[in-house]
Amino acid sequence: MKLLVVGGSGYLGRAVAVAADRAGAQTLSLSRSGYRPAGPGAAGTGLVGDATRPGFGLSGAALDEVREEVTHVVLAFGSVRWDCAPSEALAVHDTGMRTVLASLRRLRALTRVVHVSSLLVLGRAEGLVGNRELFVGQRFRNWYEYGKYCAERRVRDAGDLPVNIVRLGPVLGPPPAGAALDTSHGLLAALPYLLTGGPVHLDRRGHYPCYVSEVGSAAQVIMNALDAPSTGQTWSWYDPDLPTLAQVYTDLCAAWGRIPRLVDVPALRPVLRLASRRLGVIPELLDYSRPWFELAPDVLSDLPGDRPVSGGDYVTTTGRHLRDRGRVMAGATR
Ligand SMILES: NC(=O)c1ccc[n+]([C@@H]2O[C@H](COP(=O)([O-])OP(=O)(O)OC[C@H]3O[C@@H](n4cnc5c(N)ncnc54)[C@H](OP(=O)(O)O)[C@@H]3O)[C@@H](O)[C@H]2O)c1
Repeated sequence: MKLLVVGGSGYLGRAVAVAADRAGAQTLSLSRSGYRPAGPGAAGTGLVGDATRPGFGLSGAALDEVREEVTHVVLAFGSVRWDCAPSEALAVHDTGMRTVLASLRRLRALTRVVHVSSLLVLGRAEGLVGNRELFVGQRFRNWYEYGKYCAERRVRDAGDLPVNIVRLGPVLGPPPAGAALDTSHGLLAALPYLLTGGPVHLDRRGHYPCYVSEVGSAAQVIMNALDAPSTGQTWSWYDPDLPTLAQVYTDLCAAWGRIPRLVDVPALRPVLRLASRRLGVIPELLDYSRPWFELAPDVLSDLPGDRPVSGGDYVTTTGRHLRDRGRVMAGATR
């Protein structure tokens, strides 16, 4: 297997490169900033390119190598910022994906592609939703959700390409060597405020699933999807223990010896929204303070390959990792 990881210098892309290296694959990791193998556990070779440009923005020998020799591709590129502008979300995930699909059509040895989608493509879907559904009349909380929806739509429509899709919820766990955990977006963006002890309104005090998974297990599911015999499939992956949002925040804050003040006081919602920037919380985060959507109970049952085991107590370990690097307390004490 000669694997191209598009977005290979990122949090998930690096984890995939490590898993691929363990599986004996030869890996090319592509991103705009390039990929610098960093320390033990780092894997593969870096390519500087841009997925939103024809031929992944490559030229010369690098383009020839990709066009002639790459057999497998993982699409794990693009911003995961919940507060990204519409132009950014659509340029990367919609028109960018159209260009990526055109570039994939020119790979002569291509046998499998896995697109890393997000469970957030389901937006505010109502009723039970599974792997088959994409548009169920949902509205979207932000442009990230809509951008990822557009990307998955384009991938599903590319019936001529051997593509499978893996949907993930928020991914946690200490990052692989060379990658960083960005605390400025996603669930982690609430940490600085939670650590100040301020009250946070969550419906049912956050006792609803948030579909987190551990980064190593997510990478393994992506590898299994690359190996799967059929194509055109969509699978979802999240920690089968299904920790609630309240549990995740409690376990993250434990590293600082704090217990987050999660309250069910809807009147706080508008106050927090108004003051969110001053409190260091992106307003988009507050849109996740209601139950997100409900996945069909059998959604994990058709995953290809062996179901991976999540690495230890990955949520608590994430908190410790951030604490040890002073990544969040700086925000908390601001
Ligand atoms: N992390 C999660 O919780 C999660 C959950 C569900 C789905 N996902 C999906 O997984 C993918 C990766 O997420 P992540 O957490 O690994 O994000 P990340 O750490 O921000 O990594 C994003 C990667 O994409 C690269 N990239 C961005 N624009 C690019 C472009 N135009 N051409 C080539 N490379 C580009 C970045 O490098 P440069 O900026 O240097 O180009 C980086 O390597 C995203 O599509 C995201 O939607 C992530």
